[in-house]
Formats: sequence, structure tokens, C-alpha cells
Amino acid sequence: MNENKIFVTGLFGMTSFFHVNAFPKEGQTIRSKTSFYEVGGKGYNQAYTAKKLGASVNFYTAIGNDFFSERLIYELEKDNFGYFRFDDIPNDFACVVIDNTSDNYVILNKGASTKISEKHISSIKDLIVHNKGVLIQNEIPIEANYRILKIAHENGLITVFDPAPITNELKRSTDIFRFCDVVKPNWGEATELTNSKIDDSPLSVASRLQDLGAKNVVITRGSQGAFVLTEAGESFCQPIWPVTSIDTTGAGDVFSAALCVSLCENKTIHEAVAFASAASAISVTRGGVISAIPNREEIYDLINKQSLY
Ligand code: RIB
Repeated sequence: MNENKIFVTGLFGMTSFFHVNAFPKEGQTIRSKTSFYEVGGKGYNQAYTAKKLGASVNFYTAIGNDFFSERLIYELEKDNFGYFRFDDIPNDFACVVIDNTSDNYVILNKGASTKISEKHISSIKDLIVHNKGVLIQNEIPIEANYRILKIAHENGLITVFDPAPITNELKRSTDIFRFCDVVKPNWGEATELTNSKIDDSPLSVASRLQDLGAKNVVITRGSQGAFVLTEAGESFCQPIWPVTSIDTTGAGDVFSAALCVSLCENKTIHEAVAFASAASAISVTRGGVISAIPNREEIYDLINKQSLY
């Protein structure tokens, strides 16, 4: 009954993208090669990816009051996504700058998402419990995320937490991990969360995350693939698919969503991580985030072509 139903919550807002040859130096004005707007936010990116990959997604976010509200509401309603409305604060807004090497800077101005509280989450508890999985990130207040994970955990849902971006609040509240079936940071986030050194072994860093309560840990490590430590103590590394990367923005969001979709289809963690890393590999070959999300056929094509697992 709950098959493939995933509850996602998180930030949603307009994002402006600029592609440049090289990042500007201090005080320098440079010309962009291209620029465009796209709706985004880690929450929305993950919800949209999960939906594109075939899950039935219940997404909840926050809408503020500014120039972008009408367009943002249009985007949510066309996908039957839900939102809390706040009239006394602007929307979240991000600016992404990508250089020739596909590295990026993301600057985020927080707005309506800061208003999502425990109370808002409690008001949609009935909606949350009727899902098979829950997928969250760390762009909304920790109390709200805590409430979601606790509800999900108590009701036997599969919980996937992408702890990006790391905040002091999260570092003080790592007991939230005991409600997580999977915690999926990137390498920088994983070392920051565990006070590890950048050259510590992936196994030791993942073990520290398990000591904090995470059942399974999946650490994405860029060109070094994804390192996985399972609840049963098995560890393995999923290599990357060799692709030409032009824009890595949102690749982590695509990974987390594909991972959650696959786990909610009762796939093994090996299969789910392979599926997720193929999905994010394809996404970095294209510009933007939403426009870069692959469909299932493309993901299976890549997996079958390379047969890495
Ligand atoms: O993970 C990428 C996302 O982070 C962008 O869509 C941007 O909106 C920021 O929230």
C-alpha cells in the first residue's frame, strides 16, 4: 500500500545560475558565459528527482511573500506538492556560479524555509506516516527535521538523511542520527560532523557516524566514488562512472533521492548505491539541476554499458 511513496520536505526557491570561465577575483567584475533561472533548493531537487524516478512523492515546503511567490506556487501545484505559506518573509533564493572545471559556489539567502516548525510538521503527521520512506536534508530548522525523523522512525518508515549543509545546530544535535536508516554526507560533511581529519580513512569516519547512531552510512567522495558502511558492518566502495562533468550542482541531491527511491523499492544497499551513483554521474554531464536529472532508462543504460556491479 505504501509502496514507492516517499515523503520529502525541505527548502524550495528560485536559483540563478551563472556559468563563467573562472571565478572572479576580489573586486573584479566578470562576464558570464550563460545565465538562467531554475527552481531549486535541496528539498525540491530531491523531491523532483524521486518523482522523475517513479516514486509517488509527498513534498512539503515553505512559500514566502515576494516577486517569485506566484511562479513558485505554480511549480509546486503542477506536481501536487504541498506548502506552508508565510506572508511576513521573502522566499529562499540561491545564486550558483559554475566555472570551466565544473566546480561551483552556492550562495543561499534563507527565507520562508526558516519558519517551518515542529508544529507545522505535527500538523501533517497523518500524511507522513502513510509513506514508505522519508527523505530530508539540513536546510530547514533542525527541530522540524527532528520531528519528521522521529515520526517516521516510530512508524517504521525508511529514513534517509542528507545532512547538507552542515550547521552548528546539526553538530550540536547529532542524536538525530539515531532515527536514520541511512545518513548520506559527502566527504567534507562527514569529516566535519565527526571532527575527523581530511586524511582519516573512510572506514574510521563512517564508523564515527555509526557511533553517533546512523544505521547505514553512505559517504560520497567525488572522483573516489561512494564509501558505504552497512548496519551489519560490511563496507564497500562504489566506483564512479567515467563521465565528462560540466556542472556538479545538485549531484548530491540526485544521489540522495535515487538512493531513497531504490531502497523504498526493496533493493539492496549495493543496488541502491550503484543506481544512485549512476543517476548523479549522468546529472553532472548537464547544466542546471532540475534540467539535468536523468530518467530511469538513462540510468539503466549507463549501468549496463559499464557493468560496474
Ligand atoms: O544542492 C543544490 C541546491 O542548493 C541548489 O538548488 C540551491 O538552491 C541550493 O539550495
